[in-house]
Amino acid sequence: MNVSSPSMRVGLGWDNHRIAAGRPMIIGGVSIPCEFGFEGHSDADILAHAITDALLGAMALGDIGMHFPDTDPRWKGADSMVFLRHAAELVRQKGYSIANIDSTVILQKPKLKDFREPVRENLAKVLEVPVEAVSVKFKTAEKVGPVGEGLSGEAQASVLLLKN
Ligand code: C5P
Ligand code: MG
Repeated sequence: MNVSSPSMRVGLGWDNHRIAAGRPMIIGGVSIPCEFGFEGHSDADILAHAITDALLGAMALGDIGMHFPDTDPRWKGADSMVFLRHAAELVRQKGYSIANIDSTVILQKPKLKDFREPVRENLAKVLEVPVEAVSVKFKTAEKVGPVGEGLSGEAQASVLLLKN
């Protein structure tokens, strides 16, 4: 095996944003109708941020804040699909393809399962992969802890890359 350019690379991502009334709730680039949403400098798309970090992590290219600092006015209110598209482009530039992505959004409310297909389809389109390569799961936090009490939401993602 070539240790500097292995045939497979794995990445892990996690994100967490505070919930606030009147903020948009964007998950995987899809707008979820809800009276509350996520606070953040960008559009605070927890799922997009977790997947972006998983892609950057798989390539050992740092993290989302390094590429898109939240102190930069350019990213105020930014569409997180820009971050995701950039990370996928870096993967391709390094000669890898995304084999599959698995992810979990942990949010007490609202119910998200009816949005699974639009979210998967949007992520697949932005990442330029088949929809079968993108898994999105939803969990409550069983009303325990900050997520369970509706104070915040979390997302986790893992990705497998294959060398072209
Ligand atoms: O957290 P729990 O295991 O009770 O979630 C049960 C199901 O509810 C999940 O498998 C998921 O399909 C759905 N769910 C959802 N939206 C959430 C949390 C869970 O649609 N915010
Ligand atoms: Mg974030």
